[in-house]
Amino acid sequence: MSTTQRIKGFADMFPPESDAFTRMENTGREIFARYGFVELRTPILEFTELFQRSIGEETDVVQKEMYTFPDSRGRLMTLRPEATAGVMRAYAESGLAGREGVSRLFSCGPMFRHERPQKGRLRQFHQINCECLGSASPFADAELISMLLHFFRALRLSGLTLNINSLGCAVCRPHFREALLRYLQSLDPAALCEDCSRRMHTNPLRVLDCKQASCRAVVEGAPRLLDSICPDCAKHFSTVQKLLDGQGHAFALDHRLVRGLDYYCRTTFEVVSSRIGAQTAVAGGGRYDGLVKSLGGPDVPGVGFACGMERLALLLDAPSPAPLDFYLVALEEEGGLQGHALAQTLREAGLRGEMNFSRASWKSLMRQAGKSGARYCLILGPDETARGDIVVKNLESGEQNTLGQDTVCHFLQTGTIHD
Ligand code: HAM
Repeated sequence: MSTTQRIKGFADMFPPESDAFTRMENTGREIFARYGFVELRTPILEFTELFQRSIGEETDVVQKEMYTFPDSRGRLMTLRPEATAGVMRAYAESGLAGREGVSRLFSCGPMFRHERPQKGRLRQFHQINCECLGSASPFADAELISMLLHFFRALRLSGLTLNINSLGCAVCRPHFREALLRYLQSLDPAALCEDCSRRMHTNPLRVLDCKQASCRAVVEGAPRLLDSICPDCAKHFSTVQKLLDGQGHAFALDHRLVRGLDYYCRTTFEVVSSRIGAQTAVAGGGRYDGLVKSLGGPDVPGVGFACGMERLALLLDAPSPAPLDFYLVALEEEGGLQGHALAQTLREAGLRGEMNFSRASWKSLMRQAGKSGARYCLILGPDETARGDIVVKNLESGEQNTLGQDTVCHFLQTGTIHD
């Protein structure tokens, strides 16, 4: 194996995908700012304990998927598998958590999970992540979900489905957990897959979202979370639904939606698409009221989501790159000198263009100009440099004019010749 190969599950990104990422980030920044979000950038490397304590020891992410290694002093470090834990640490550590009011934090960047790579599932992938901290109100949940859908509309995405559920709270979930465990224990032990037979004792809720056909069949007869949540959780959830209804957002109740990370309570949600293969979730999130406290910070409630950028990119129309305004063909030494200065002046005036570096033949340079996709070819040969002129050729129509070098900028910007 060559040592210069790319690592499996880690992708290089060229246009149009890299353009799609820029578009998502810029659109996100613009939309989220309308809701009061500010950008937070956190490190990609954190102490492993942060993820163990927040995501949960019993989750697939912590058990099987983290990139963890010791540093030179033997302390365990992990490449972040998601953004929420690091955002919570930064929020608590910066003192933001001690201030009154609601903090709205937006982040984006690479995450790392050692999963089996497939379409829409990478080992290094990218998330756009939003966290709203400091409010336990169902209005915060509904506003965040509305903002997510607003973001998707701004990207002109369609055909997405919003699924929601309530996971209850520390008061009602233990009762549900017991009822579910009793139900699972009453089954033929062979009815569950190997993973679920183990996790039904450690984290029985995860059995609800197992993808194995045998487990899915079993779950059909299982008790449902929404039938056992306490009156406070039920009121919270019905307000969220009322607010979403009021905005005309369609959603489906999904009693199997428990999410793969342990910090959630009350509202959980996912947005799915049927057009991107087996990995259908383009965004997921929910409320996590005890999380900051469990990491040693104050007792601050929160709700958030993350979108998977690779999956969203599969749904975005490839943006057509803006064409270059000019390709400057400079011949001989004087052409190179004048062309270098002129190309710089044009770019500083806002035009986009390239110039040849090589001293190839006129014919080959004209071929390069044609291939560049530029609107105009600008030619600086010995006659033009001697007179301070330049030949301007429209590469689409073939029409050609000789202009003064000092008027070419005006011509490229307006399409008219300066008298
Ligand atoms: P998550 O559901 O694990 O939630 O991930 C959110 C999104 O990241 C998924 O819906 C998916 O689009 C994308 N994603 C996850 N794993 C991969 C992968 N291996 N390859 C490509 N895309 C992937 C979280 O990460 C939570 N931190 C979300 C959150 C924020 N909850 C509250 N605040």
